[in-house]
Amino acid sequence: MRVIIEKDYEAMSKKAALLVASQVRLKEDSVLGLATGSTPIRMYNELIEMYEKDEIDFSEVKTFNLDEYCNLPSENPQSYHYYMNENFFNHVNIPEENINLLDGMTDNLKKESIEYDMKIKRAGGIDLQVLGIGPNGHIGFNEPAEKLNVKTHQVDLAQETIEANSRFFESKEDVPKKAITMGIATILKSNRILLLANGKNKAKAIKETVSGNVTTKVPSSLLQTHPEVTIIVDEEAAELI
Ligand code: PGA
Repeated sequence: MRVIIEKDYEAMSKKAALLVASQVRLKEDSVLGLATGSTPIRMYNELIEMYEKDEIDFSEVKTFNLDEYCNLPSENPQSYHYYMNENFFNHVNIPEENINLLDGMTDNLKKESIEYDMKIKRAGGIDLQVLGIGPNGHIGFNEPAEKLNVKTHQVDLAQETIEANSRFFESKEDVPKKAITMGIATILKSNRILLLANGKNKAKAIKETVSGNVTTKVPSSLLQTHPEVTIIVDEEAAELI
């Protein structure tokens, strides 16, 4: 694992955007795995700025998002469909047909999950997967557990995740209890992985990711088994490493 410590959120985001941009410049038809949440917002802003200055072209890029809430329509501002359109897709030139998001509204989650993994495979696999991390070490919505489901699947969100994400909703009761997420193997099959974290509330999870035991109880610790992981953190998230 390569750990890069940047001064603050802004510097972390700039570095992350440079890394994504260099992937796309190296391979114009890159397949990107994308994350939502508050962490990558500034990285997306930076990429949009690069696009506006003609420094990057996304016309051949394909994307696969990590996860989506169940039973939240795409018009809902808290859905990850909405988030991705608002924060990235509406501002760059990724062709609509190249954008892949999990459908949390489907009545056949099993079929949706199997087809998503197949689509990733047919696209040639993910070249670069961007990840955030939950304070409990979840990646995507792979929550700490005795056993992890390796493929794309439906999950019950951990109480900690519901609490952490309630800041985006009017009340805790409004946070969906279920989601659909890429599985750990889906993530680990990516050629390269970029994990971002900022803020003190991520420091413990980052320590466990980098140097803790490899355990399903800290899903991000499984990244230690991957040969090409870059972690970019700000000083606060790096506090315990
Ligand atoms: P955050 O979420 O970026 O909003 O902190 C990260 C995550 O839960 O994976």
